[in-house]
Amino acid sequence: MDKLRIVGGRPLHGSIAVSGAKNAALPELCAALLTAEPVELRNVPRLRDVATMRKLLDNMGVQAETHGERGGFTLQAPTSLLPEAPYDLVKTMRASVLVLGPLLARFGRAKVSLPGGCAIGSRPVDQHIKGLQAMGAEIVVEHGYMVAQLPAGQTRLKGARITTDMVTVTGTENFMMAATLADGETILENAAQEPEITDLAEMLIKMGARIEGHGTSRIRIQGVERLHGCEHAVVADRIEAGTFLCAVAATGGDVTLQHARGDHLDAVIDKLRDAGVTVEDVTEGLRVVSSGAAALKAQTFRTTEYPGFPTDMQAQFMALNAVAHGASTVTETIFENRFMHVQELQRLGASIRIDGRVAVVEGVPRLSGATVMATDLRASASLVIAGLVAEGETVVDRIYHLDRGYDQMELKLRALGADIERIQ
Ligand code: UD1
Repeated sequence: MDKLRIVGGRPLHGSIAVSGAKNAALPELCAALLTAEPVELRNVPRLRDVATMRKLLDNMGVQAETHGERGGFTLQAPTSLLPEAPYDLVKTMRASVLVLGPLLARFGRAKVSLPGGCAIGSRPVDQHIKGLQAMGAEIVVEHGYMVAQLPAGQTRLKGARITTDMVTVTGTENFMMAATLADGETILENAAQEPEITDLAEMLIKMGARIEGHGTSRIRIQGVERLHGCEHAVVADRIEAGTFLCAVAATGGDVTLQHARGDHLDAVIDKLRDAGVTVEDVTEGLRVVSSGAAALKAQTFRTTEYPGFPTDMQAQFMALNAVAHGASTVTETIFENRFMHVQELQRLGASIRIDGRVAVVEGVPRLSGATVMATDLRASASLVIAGLVAEGETVVDRIYHLDRGYDQMELKLRALGADIERIQ
C-alpha cells in the first residue's frame, strides 16, 4: 500500500494547474448514458473514482476511450446495455448511485446496489428513491439492490414536482438527469446549488436538454424525447483549489493556481482573508500569498450547503486552524461522523477537542512529524497539510483515499517546492 513521506517546514512557491472537478466529472460520465451518440469530455481528472466509474460503465456495455494529455474521454452508450451496477463497484464509490436516474430515463429499468455505510456517516439514498418514485418509477429494495422499472405500458418517466427533505447534491443530479428525458415538466425544489450542478446542467443543455434555474434552489426541466452527443470541458475542482489555498496559507509562500475559480470558493476565501492570507483573482486563476501559519488568526466556521462553507473543505481548514494563532470552533452540519482526522492531527501535536458536531481547536506553535493514517479522502488532505508544516518527517499511510479524489497531489506539491514523496 502506498504512503506519502513528507518533511515539513518548506514554504510553497510557483504555479500549478488545478484539475477538473471530481464531483462534476462523475455525474458527467453518467450523463453519457442518456444518449446513443458519442459524448466527448475534456479535463477529466486522473483519479481512482473516475477509473471506478469507467469500470462501472464499461461493465454495462458503454464504450469509453481516453485520449490526449488533457483528460480527454469519449463515451458511447449503445441502444441496448446491461443497466446494472453491482455491489463490488458501488461499495467503493457512493457516487455510483448517479447511474440510477439516467438508466431509468433512457432504458426504463435499472438495478443498482445500495451503497452501504461510509466512513463519514450513514449516507442513505432514500431521497433518490422517493424522488424517482414521484416521477413514476417503481422501485423495490431487495437483496441489497434498488430494482427500478417503469410501470407496464409506460415508456418514459413522468415530470413531477420534487421537494427533498434536505439539500442533496447527487440527488439533485440524479433527478435533473432523469427529468431531461421525462414526459412533461419537472420542478426540483430545495435543489443543491453547487457549481458542479451548474456544470452538469450546462453539459445537459449542450445535449439538447431544456433546463432553467440551475445554480438556484429551484430547477425546472422540460423533458424532451431524445438527447444527442456533445463536447464539454469539466469545470475546475474548487475543492482541490481550496486544499492548495489552505496548504500555502499554512506553509507560507506565493502560489498561482491556474484555472481556479475564486467565485466558486467565496466562503473559504473570506475565511482565509480574515485569517490574514492574501488571495486575489489573477488572469490565470487565483494567487495566494501567506507568511505562514504563525502569522495567521484561527477562524471559526460551520459547514453548510453551497454557497456556504463546504464540508469537503472542513478537514483541510481545521489543519490550518491547528497551527494558526488562537482558538476556533469548527461545526460540521452535513455529515455526522466527519472528524476522523482529529485523532490523527492530535498525533502530530494538534490541540483539538470534540464535542458532538463541534471541534474546539487551540492553535499550537508547532506540530511534530509522526506516522498517521488517512481515513477518508478529505481527511487525507488535511494530514498532508499538517505534514507540510510539521517539524521533521510525517508518513501518511493509506493514501489510496487521497488517490480517489486528488490528481497527482504529491507531484503538484513537489513542483511547488515541498519535500514529499510516494513510498511503497
Ligand atoms: C456530494 C459530494 C460530496 C460532498 C457532499 C456534500 C459528489 C460525488 N459527492 O455527496 O463530496 O461531501 O455532496 O456537499 O458530488 N442524505 C440523505 N438521504 C439521501 C441523500 C442524502 O439522508 O437520499 C443526507 C446525507 O446523508 C448527508 C446530506 O444528506 O447528510 C447531504 O448529502 P448529499 O448532498 O446527498 O451528499 P452526496 O451527494 O452523497
